[in-house]
Amino acid sequence: MRRAGRVAAGIAGVAAAALLAAGCGTGGVAPKQADVQNGEALFKSSCAGCHTLAAAGTNGTIGPNLDNAFASDRSQDFKDSSIENVVLDQIRLGSGPIAIGKVEEPTMPANIVKGQDAVDVAAYVASVAGQGGPTASSSPASLGTNGKKIFQSECSSCHTLAAAGATGTVGPNLDQLKPPLATVVRQVTNGGAVMPAFKGKLTPAQIEAVATFVSSSAGK
Ligand code: HEC
Ligand code: HEC
Repeated sequence: MRRAGRVAAGIAGVAAAALLAAGCGTGGVAPKQADVQNGEALFKSSCAGCHTLAAAGTNGTIGPNLDNAFASDRSQDFKDSSIENVVLDQIRLGSGPIAIGKVEEPTMPANIVKGQDAVDVAAYVASVAGQGGPTASSSPASLGTNGKKIFQSECSSCHTLAAAGATGTVGPNLDQLKPPLATVVRQVTNGGAVMPAFKGKLTPAQIEAVATFVSSSAGK
């Protein structure tokens, strides 16, 4: 929640900075056409180790989960271009002056990617962050009743479960929790305080399948 607030504030700040910088060659406003394919490749090689981004299939946990960081901005209908500027600023400045003196916090180096490459990565992140991953737009029906596939598509960004190769940290670690079948069915159907409800998104048979997969593989 702290992060989301910072990004929203960051967007306001960037808008102000953009006004001030207008006419100056180093302005924060993204120039030119971005190549999001190049951005995706660079994200996977340069950012993945530290950041989770469902669409890129990355699970880094040193930096904030970028889906979560931008989900609230997304739900408030911020434009991709605003998010793009926040990401671009973050790439250019890294952790920036705010982190000075807080050596115990992990930091992000500035300028990991530069110039047009930075623009491309920012455009890529802005186009996918907080959208719920690559399968969210395609129908979950295509996942059938393969519990493992359903888990990897719908749950792995938030939960750790070794059997699915999932390392999400938003929700509880399911290998440690070892929830019984009925608990998983109830939780997936109704959701929780943070976790979305999957009733209507997944069929009852798919919920049963993913719950069976979780309850039979957790902690193994
Ligand atoms: C060595 C680890 C590391 C790498 C590599 C890294 N980051 Fe970060 N990133 C962090 C950390 C730690 C933070 C949180 C500290 C901060 O807010 O400055 C962060 C913050 C961010 C934020 C702000 C999110 C928020 O909630 O405010 C964005 C956006 C971001 N990174 C994008 C990227 C992109 C794009 C790349 C690749 C070009 C990248 N990061 C590479 C560690 C990393
Ligand atoms: C957006 C993140 C998110 C997603 C996606 C998500 N969960 Fe969760 N999950 C959570 C959080 C956070 C909690 C604990 C608090 C709560 O209920 O919101 C939780 C709790 C649970 C619990 C524990 C319930 C209990 O009573 O202890 C189970 C089991 C679970 N999730 C399974 C799943 C499965 C299976 C999926 C995919 C179909 C899934 N989750 C998708 C975030 C998520």
